[in-house]
Amino acid sequence: MADLFAPLRLGALDLPNRIVMAPMTRSRADANGVPLDIVAEYYAQRASAGLIVTEAIYVSAMAKGYVRTPGLVTSEQVAAWKKVTQTVHGKGGRIFAQLYHTGRVALPDWLPGGVAPVAPSAIAINGTNQTDEGKKPFVMPRALETDEIAGVAAEYGQAAQRAMEAGFDGIEVHAASGYLIHQFLDATINTRTDRYGGSAVNRVRFLREAVESVVAVVGKDRVGVKISPRIKFNDVVEPDAEEVYPVVARELSECGIAYLHGARQGAYEVHNLRALFSGAYLAGSGFDFEKANDAIVSGTADAVVFGKPFLANPDLPRRYREGLDLAQPDQGTIYWGGAKGYVDYPAHM
Ligand SMILES: Cc1cc2nc3c(=O)[nH]c(=O)nc-3n(C[C@H](O)[C@H](O)[C@H](O)COP(=O)(O)O)c2cc1C
Repeated sequence: MADLFAPLRLGALDLPNRIVMAPMTRSRADANGVPLDIVAEYYAQRASAGLIVTEAIYVSAMAKGYVRTPGLVTSEQVAAWKKVTQTVHGKGGRIFAQLYHTGRVALPDWLPGGVAPVAPSAIAINGTNQTDEGKKPFVMPRALETDEIAGVAAEYGQAAQRAMEAGFDGIEVHAASGYLIHQFLDATINTRTDRYGGSAVNRVRFLREAVESVVAVVGKDRVGVKISPRIKFNDVVEPDAEEVYPVVARELSECGIAYLHGARQGAYEVHNLRALFSGAYLAGSGFDFEKANDAIVSGTADAVVFGKPFLANPDLPRRYREGLDLAQPDQGTIYWGGAKGYVDYPAHM
């Protein structure tokens, strides 16, 4: 019977174990969205994961939503990511790029010409976003015109093309955490009356178009999608998640992608979608070793995604396998601190 350490065929990849490193924003890019040199070292230290999923990477200039986050837009960014993938591959690892457009989360500070961010509808998030000049309130986004939306979906495919040039093994499309794709899914954020709003199928359309644009360039067996229904973040509400997510699972099955990554971060039993999805199911959020191993043994998931445990434990698979103690991360350097709190967590002795 398979356990957490059993190999897994995931689309086009052979994973040596079922421990996946979750996408985690660490804000170690320069002002131009180019990942710093330490990013290669950080991911390479974690190459014993069955699969690494990078931090979210913005797909276009309009997609950047946070200070010091990286992109896959310019040739400098592609060159820096190439160093990351080569270093990870040199350590025997596998790495997917997580691609996102932040939609209404972005502040004009980071957008070309200081314009307003775009979103399905002109509804602002309550609260603030962190900048180098302190916290600033979210702004009123501009609702996308119907005839612009296919072009925005195509940006995911264009970024995926650059990701493959940079040597990534595949792409995780970020449909979670209240970013642009999730904004389309949520009826309280998307009040459109065209073919991208209203019914569940219509609200899923943008996700489907984005995924199809990625599949067209990298192939369906190198694509995954992350969802986090009803996450309490970025004003996500999703009153009809019970209707929407079965449609998501069905449509993504039709796309034939390699995996669905469900993070159980809100009041919705996302792992039940496994039964509705034809590819591999990756369960995430709140797992420790025992719960994760149970999830594999009981058939709840094909692989388990670990976020916070990877922060201070670069050799997490070995620690789990050998029952070694886990280090705790320093909270003050998660999004700030350069090399400190990033590449200085040692492997277990
Ligand atoms: C520091 C940090 C940064 C994160 N950044 C991202 C991100 O860029 N993309 C994403 O999909 N999820 C992100 N997440 C969520 C994680 O991928 C994961 O779903 C969450 O931490 C729950 O899993 P865990 O309990 O194993 O940590 C982040 C989480 C943390 C702790």
